[in-house]
Amino acid sequence: MTVLYLEAETAIEGDRPMDVRDVRVRRQGMDRHATILSESGDAATEDEARPGYASAMRRYYVTTFGCQMNAHDSERIKGMLESLGIGEAAAPEEADVLVFNTCTIREKPDTRLAAYLGDAAARKRREPDVVVAVGGCYAEAQREVIFERYPFVDVAFGPGSIPHLGEWIEAGGHAVPRGRFGTHETFAATLPMHRERRFSAWVQVSMGCNSKCAYCIVPAVRGREQSRRPGEIVAELEALARDGVKEVTLLGQNVNSWGRDLAPGIRTEFGELLRGCDAVEGIERIRFTSPHPKDFRDPVIAAIAECATVCEHVHLPLQSGSTRILKAMRRTYSRERYLSLVERLRSAVPDLALGTDIIVGFPGETERDFEQTLEVVEEVEFDSAFTFVYSPRAGTEAAAMPDQVPEDVKRERMERLVALVQRGAAARNADRVGRLEDVLVEGPSRTDPTLLRGRTRRNTTVNFTGTAAAGELARVKIEGSTSTTLRGREASLVAA
Ligand code: 5AD
Ligand code: SF4
Repeated sequence: MTVLYLEAETAIEGDRPMDVRDVRVRRQGMDRHATILSESGDAATEDEARPGYASAMRRYYVTTFGCQMNAHDSERIKGMLESLGIGEAAAPEEADVLVFNTCTIREKPDTRLAAYLGDAAARKRREPDVVVAVGGCYAEAQREVIFERYPFVDVAFGPGSIPHLGEWIEAGGHAVPRGRFGTHETFAATLPMHRERRFSAWVQVSMGCNSKCAYCIVPAVRGREQSRRPGEIVAELEALARDGVKEVTLLGQNVNSWGRDLAPGIRTEFGELLRGCDAVEGIERIRFTSPHPKDFRDPVIAAIAECATVCEHVHLPLQSGSTRILKAMRRTYSRERYLSLVERLRSAVPDLALGTDIIVGFPGETERDFEQTLEVVEEVEFDSAFTFVYSPRAGTEAAAMPDQVPEDVKRERMERLVALVQRGAAARNADRVGRLEDVLVEGPSRTDPTLLRGRTRRNTTVNFTGTAAAGELARVKIEGSTSTTLRGREASLVAA
C-alpha cells in the first residue's frame, strides 16, 4: 500500500494525474486543506503470487508526499528495493524498511512528515532492526540537520541520489556517508521500476529546474535542469506500450523547456518530443506536466493541436493574475502574456481543458493584486485549479521579502478564490452534459462499485454505467456533472 499526499489548499478537479484510480479528496473544514490520499494494496498480493515468495522476506513500505515527480521517484525507490530482494509490505507495521519520500514545497508537508517520523521513531524503539530511510525534497533541503533532528533515521537521500539507495540499504542501511547524500548528477530514469498503475505511466523527461521563481524551493532541492535523451524517452514509451500501457504523462519540473540543454547533435524542443511520442504505436494518450507559460512556444502548441494522442488538456500554472506580483515572483510573464497564451492555445485546440496553480498571499500582494487574480480566473474559467496559501521556504528569495501577508488575510482571500474557481469548474463541466466522451477506464468507481470510473481526454473523472474493462477506451454519454466529476452511461447501453 502506498500513501500519496498531494498538498494543496484546494484541489478543484477530478484528480491530478497521479494514482488516479485510488484518489479520494477529503475536505477538512475551514482549513480547506485537501489531502489526496491514494491507497493501493495490489502490489503485496502480487508479491505473494510470485514464485520464491517467502514470508521471511524483508519488506519495505514507502510513504510518498508531494507531486507526481515524487510519486514517480517512489516507483523507482520501490523498484530498487525489489531488485535487492525486499518485497512490498501491505502496511507500515509489517515492514522492516520504512521509506519516506518527502516534499518540502510548503510547510504543511514538513509538519505531516514530522508526525509520520514520530511513529517511525516509536516503532524503532520497539524494534531496533527496522530501517528508517528519508528521501526526497525535504531530506535534500534539510541535509545539514536531518540526522541531528531525527537521530533514529538510518538513511537519508535526496531526489538525485536514488540510485545509491540500494548500496545503503544493502549495507544494512545503518550508515550513510554524508558526502554521498543528495547529489544531482544522476539521472534516475534508467533504474528498475515498480509501476503503480497498469494502463497509465509517468515518463520522466527531465530533472531539475533552471527557473528562479522567488517562492520556490525546487531549484534548491532538485538542481539544474537536465534533459533526458529523446531516443531513451521514446524507447521507454515503446516498452510501456508493449506492456499494455495506454496513457503516458511526460514529467518534468519545467517540462516544456525540455531539450535545450541536449548536445548539439540531438538538441531539439518539446514539440518535437511530443511528435516523437505520438508516433509510438499503442500509446493512445499523451499528457505532460508541468509546463511553464514562458516556454510555451508555437511548435509546442502546434504539436498539441496536430498529434492525435496528445490530449486536450494543459496544466498552465498562473500563480498570480497581477503583473506586479508575477514580476516579484520572477515568473517572467505578465498577466497579458498569460492571457494571450490562453487565447493562442484555445484557438489552436478548440476543446482544450485548462488547469492551473495559484498562490494566494505572496509577499506584498495587495487587495488590488488579488482582485486581478480573481479577474483572470473569471476570464479564463479554468477547468481545474490547485490553490496554495503562500508558505515561506527558508533559503528562497521570497522568504526574506518584506510585507509578508498576514495569515487571516491569506485565508480570507483563499476562500474567495476557491468559490470562484469552483463556480468556473462547475460551469465548464456542466457544458459537457449531453456530449459523448472517450473515457479510459480505470476500474470500478470508488463511491459506488456498481459504476465504472475513468477519465476523459480533458482529464475529468467520469463515473458511469457500463461494461467496459479496465484499460479500455469507452464512449460515454455524459448525463450529469459537478465541479470535479462527470456522470454518464456507456454509449452502447444508451443505444440499447
Ligand atoms: N508557497 C505556496 N505555494 C507554493 N508553490 C510552490 N512553492 C510554494 C510556496 N512557497 C505552489 C506553486 C506550484 C505548485 C506546485 O506549488 O503554485 O506551481
Ligand atoms: Fe514537493 Fe516540489 Fe519536491 Fe515535488 S519537486 S516533492 S512539489 S518539493
